[in-house]
Amino acid sequence: MARFEDIHGRDESWAVRDTGAHSRTVRSMFARIARVYDFMNHLLSLNRDKAWRKRVAARLDHDAWEVLDLCAGTGDLALAAMAAGKGRVWVAADFCPEMLAGSRGKRGAESLQLAAADALALPFREIGVDAVTVGFGVRNFADVRRGVQEIARVLRPGGQILVLDFFRDDPAGEGEARGVSGPIRILLNAFVPLVGRLVGRDGSAYGYLSNSMAAFMTPREFIGLLEEHGFKDTFIERQTFGIAHLVGGRLDK
Ligand SMILES: C[S@@+](CC[C@H](N)C(=O)[O-])C[C@H]1O[C@@H](n2cnc3c(N)ncnc32)[C@H](O)[C@@H]1O
Repeated sequence: MARFEDIHGRDESWAVRDTGAHSRTVRSMFARIARVYDFMNHLLSLNRDKAWRKRVAARLDHDAWEVLDLCAGTGDLALAAMAAGKGRVWVAADFCPEMLAGSRGKRGAESLQLAAADALALPFREIGVDAVTVGFGVRNFADVRRGVQEIARVLRPGGQILVLDFFRDDPAGEGEARGVSGPIRILLNAFVPLVGRLVGRDGSAYGYLSNSMAAFMTPREFIGLLEEHGFKDTFIERQTFGIAHLVGGRLDK
């Protein structure tokens, strides 16, 4: 099996492929907010984002060796899992180099292999990684189905997928699939773009957050998509009043 280190040496394979207008728009938006991304993340989530990433780390198999963190941004998910002692070889892939650059200087970042790569067209052969993690990335995919297909292609049989995101509220969702209550949703929809405009100086980027959530899947719909693509042992874990959900499963191929 090809090691990530081997692939990493082939520079030409890291070129970001163009997956269309939506991807270009998302990429340039993240390039614009890259410098304030971490600060705004902690502010807007009142630091809950750190606890959510720790839940991903806790769910990651102890024997997962090679882990691909897609939509890695400034590396916080991979770094949180590494700090928790999970994974040995970590590749942080993102199609926005400005976001990846934000990982520099963080504790443990020297052990991260950075890859400029589009999650919808991964520049990897069928390599069989032990786990794929995606934090707040899937919602941005131009084609979620294609993203799940790509993840299934690069995972080994039995490999884990762990997706943390802001899913669309599911009115019929119960238990772990429950979203936030109406008043909290109204508050979030007002608070996030306002703080984005005042502090992040980019109301449109933070308005995008609410719009992309409303247009995204519910946690149960996403689980259905995973199962269609051969994932089993799927689960949903509700985070902080249902603001975010951690969804995952294991490839059964
Ligand atoms: C909200 S940030 C999340 C960053 C990080 N995972 C975290 O937990 O903070 C979303 C990231 O996904 C990246 N992204 C969105 N769509 C992508 C795609 N198709 N391929 C690769 N990266 C993508 C963006 O560039 C951005 O860095």
